[in-house]
Amino acid sequence: MADQYVQSGEDGRPKEIPAIRWDEPPEGPVLVLLDQTRLPAEEVELVCTDAPVLVEAIRSLAVRGAPLLGIAGAYGVALAAARGFDVDDAAEALAGARPTAVNLAVGVRRAQAAYRAELARSGDAERAAAAALGAARALHEEDAEASARMAARGLALLDELLPGGGHRVLTHCNTGALVSGGEGTAFAVALAAHRAGQLRRLWVDETRPLLQGARLTAYEAARNGMAYTLLTDNAAGSLFAAGEVDAVLIGADRIAADGSVANKVGSYPLAVLARYHHVPFIVVAPLTTVDLETADGASIEVEQRPGFEVTEIAAPQVPVAGGEPGGGIPVAPLGTQAYNPAFDVTPPELVTAIVTEEGVVSPVTGEALAELCARSRQV
Ligand code: MRU
Repeated sequence: MADQYVQSGEDGRPKEIPAIRWDEPPEGPVLVLLDQTRLPAEEVELVCTDAPVLVEAIRSLAVRGAPLLGIAGAYGVALAAARGFDVDDAAEALAGARPTAVNLAVGVRRAQAAYRAELARSGDAERAAAAALGAARALHEEDAEASARMAARGLALLDELLPGGGHRVLTHCNTGALVSGGEGTAFAVALAAHRAGQLRRLWVDETRPLLQGARLTAYEAARNGMAYTLLTDNAAGSLFAAGEVDAVLIGADRIAADGSVANKVGSYPLAVLARYHHVPFIVVAPLTTVDLETADGASIEVEQRPGFEVTEIAAPQVPVAGGEPGGGIPVAPLGTQAYNPAFDVTPPELVTAIVTEEGVVSPVTGEALAELCARSRQV
């Protein structure tokens, strides 16, 4: 559990809390998260003083979403280093906290490599810790830049695919500022469309079972003054059939070398619906989400979550750790087994385009993806 919870707005005024920030109070460095399990009911900070607290925050989805997991992982290594804990142990625990979003391990390994390199060079643990923090900060900034560039590229693509504006966009899970150093991935494109006066409606899938759409995307859409409507995941089919969806915009947790896209469970059925209804299915993700070492969709490890997330409804503002097994309100007979994969995999042939900060891949093929990655490495 958290070391410490800090309620926002203690002076009676609402406070803007970033999804993640590094802080150095007199007691020592900390990583401060906006606890996403408590949204939208409460904006509460979760203060991590060491890697195990952060690992628990990652597992419980207090901090979540692929790009932010990478940033958090990198800061987690920096935190362990700054506090004098074993950096390699911390890195192992952090990288393994959740298996599907490749960004997590990428962020962890980047900060760990910076730490090791500086330690080997200078033999000075303090300098090595500073190097790890520098790597985390750089990743954080790069992600913000990538987010802005994806938003611009995604908006241009929408305008090209759907001339005339007035886009009605369906999205799934949560892909905004809560998962990013910037304004997010897919959500950032919708936000750019909104700011350009081109977004007629954002359809927000509630995203069973943990309600990232209802709790988080609706929260971000409302805060940005966007025209949005929440629907149950099961209602998407009739929405397509009624001709109410012009495009689907989603993020990704891992994109394999063949262009297969792992994202929040429920993305694949949307891709099938989109194909049937001739609607573009667009994936927006930074290059840190592309994993050329994972050959194809079948090779992506999909996280299996505890069944109680399906058999119980957890009040979002109440941490589920209280009772047994999940402490929520049962919605199925006691002892019911549940199938609860956190993600599914959409094959490349169902993806109209992958939008990255460095360019758009369409049609989606392994060759085109490899070429984009190679080009971006040369820049
Ligand atoms: O289980 P979560 O909430 O971490 O899942 C997040 C998603 O599936 C997002 O769509 C994905 O990370 C892309 S966010 C840019």
